[in-house]
Amino acid sequence: MDIELLQGDITTRDVDAIVNAANSSLLGGGGVDGAIHRAAGGQLLEACRALRQTDYPEGLPVGQAVATDAFNLPARWVIHTVGPNALAGQTDPELLRQAFANSLAVAERIGAATIAFPAISAGVYGWDADDVARTAVQAVGNHPGTCLERVEFVLFSDRVARAFQAAFEELRG
Ligand code: APR
Repeated sequence: MDIELLQGDITTRDVDAIVNAANSSLLGGGGVDGAIHRAAGGQLLEACRALRQTDYPEGLPVGQAVATDAFNLPARWVIHTVGPNALAGQTDPELLRQAFANSLAVAERIGAATIAFPAISAGVYGWDADDVARTAVQAVGNHPGTCLERVEFVLFSDRVARAFQAAFEELRG
């Protein structure tokens, strides 16, 4: 499985699945969540509302992941996950690892061969970019799946891109 680090807007990535750093409501927000909903169009919100009326009446718990169609995006699916919010005291790295690992597991289940991640929790949710990068790269490095051929991390700032580059080089040894 190839891992690639890119800088740019995740909504433009032509991969099988892009991961959305959502919140538990699944009803949109700012940051990458807002960008994905804007680019996907209103049907994405409708699909998320349907999830709230069926599988997730209480909302998507932190660390869990669920896929929807991607509608107007180049990708085929959006995998919504909720990272831990450091500003709400959610500082357990296990929760962040679960967000990455469960997104990978959902990708395997739906048969995605390529997936793009943002830096989950490194924005509004206030996690240190170095901690997010290490957790992300380790989660991918430990992923036992067989369907995924390529994992992209699509970073939106130089600072976060540098953090991921450093974590990636540390993993490579
Ligand atoms: N493409 C790639 N990365 C992006 C994009 C984009 N279009 N827009 C923002 N980012 C980056 C941010 O710069 C940050 O590094 O994604 C990372 C995650 O930031 P957030 O989107 O703020 O996500 P998070 O920190 O997990 O907070 C989630 O914010 O937007 C709300 O509804 C969302 O309540 C939820 C919370």
